[in-house]
Amino acid sequence: MGGITVRIPEPSATQREFLEARCKHVAFGGARGGGKSWAIRVKAILLALRFPGIKQLVIRRTYPELRMNHIGPIRSVLPESVASYNDSHKELTFKNGSVIFFRFCANDGDLLSFQGQECDVLFIDEATQFTENQYRVLKACVRGANSFPKRIYLSCNPGGVGHGWVKRLFVDRRFTGAENGDEYVFIRSRVWDNKALMKYQPDYVTQLQTLDSKHRAAWLDGDWNIFEGVFFEEFRDDPAHYEDRRFTHVIEPFRIPPDWRIYRSFDWGYSRPFSCGWWAVDYEGTAYRILELYGCSGDPNVGVKWTADRVFSEIARIEREHEFLAGKNVYGVADPAIFSSDTGESVEEAASRRGVFFTRGDNSRLPGWMQMRRRLAFDEEGRAKMYIFKNCRAFIRTVPSLVYDENRVEDLDTTGEDHVADETRYFCMARPLPPRANGGVDPFDLSPAATYLDVSRADLPRYVKPDRMQVVSSH
Ligand SMILES: Nc1ncnc2c1ncn2[C@@H]1O[C@H](COP(=O)(O)OP(=O)(O)O)[C@@H](O)[C@H]1O
Ligand SMILES: [Mg+2]
Repeated sequence: MGGITVRIPEPSATQREFLEARCKHVAFGGARGGGKSWAIRVKAILLALRFPGIKQLVIRRTYPELRMNHIGPIRSVLPESVASYNDSHKELTFKNGSVIFFRFCANDGDLLSFQGQECDVLFIDEATQFTENQYRVLKACVRGANSFPKRIYLSCNPGGVGHGWVKRLFVDRRFTGAENGDEYVFIRSRVWDNKALMKYQPDYVTQLQTLDSKHRAAWLDGDWNIFEGVFFEEFRDDPAHYEDRRFTHVIEPFRIPPDWRIYRSFDWGYSRPFSCGWWAVDYEGTAYRILELYGCSGDPNVGVKWTADRVFSEIARIEREHEFLAGKNVYGVADPAIFSSDTGESVEEAASRRGVFFTRGDNSRLPGWMQMRRRLAFDEEGRAKMYIFKNCRAFIRTVPSLVYDENRVEDLDTTGEDHVADETRYFCMARPLPPRANGGVDPFDLSPAATYLDVSRADLPRYVKPDRMQVVSSH
């Protein structure tokens, strides 16, 4: 008949639900690797072929992610005789007049370019990476005086700046104002549903299983109620095991072998307490917090706060006199803000004057917390990669008291006493733990380049057996 058949690989049961959903707002969410981006790509192709002339917009936070998850894979399954791609406009135009616009939106500045944009169907991949305001602006692109379906499809993982609004609308279904609950549907995806991934990359799941309990629940099981309560849930202080160091982070102090490397991590408190921690690192890379100096003498909330000079002369004295530190090289890492000299002498200059030297710490918060959790995680024998000598009382008191932030859901609430945690984070980022040996997949790595292999392209035949999702487009 002169038509063209585009065969789509078999969708999973949840992908099929997503493809068949008819609601105005459809969210597909939960686990990583559940086949969400795949479902978006396939839905966009199906709609383009089914409704000649329809305009669709596919949005992702960054261009590399957009290219890797959508532009590349969509182009690879559609022959030029069906659709042709214009790279400078980032638009895929179908022979039947349908168009898919590919756009990214990394921050509020990018929103301006969406003001004139119109579409019938909007896809936001990883919608939890967008703020509610960004979502509102993007949603406004869905308009047009025509009879095409008007729909919004979202994919989402728990966590991220958009966790709150996605959870409210789709998981908790708490609607306000003009929002009509009948127009919202949530389809839960789990990694187990993705047979292709399970078959070709089973170690992806094994790796998700090694995550800390919160992220495992979020990314493996698609649990939305996790970023609440205690931030370092994995922290254990078990006096029964101070000696054998199993399933406890707090331990009995011991004499440090002379050739272990020593680090000093520091957070300056401006109007709040400062925190200084000393870490010894053994040959395996396990870190021991051996000493600390916190706040002012006595209760940090009461009494006179020390000047920078007093703090650093005390640090210098400790390093001269303490048996673990005397005569050793100490590698200092600190809050990068101490290098700022906006108000006269920088805190770092005050430190150097006393012979206390620092390099700038890496202040990326979520990767830093990830590093800290990676160190706190116990292996099967109950061994961690970070221990705290029981004399480090500020760590033991403050770190377990920290809670999740309500807005930045994967971060901690910075109104808590977080100076020890911050300084520990700078240390962790200075001695990052490599991912476990696992064939190249690191589920802790959040960067777009670190996605799993694209199994649909690498290992599967390009067209799998036809099934009822196949579409015939004649034009
Ligand atoms: N139904 C399917 N058939 C073949 N491959 C699939 C299918 N669903 C997903 N995949 C592949 O599995 C991998 C993970 O899917 P993806 O959609 O990227 O997951 P998510 O976006 O949920 O993290 C990708 O390589 C994708 O191409
Ligand atoms: Mg994806």
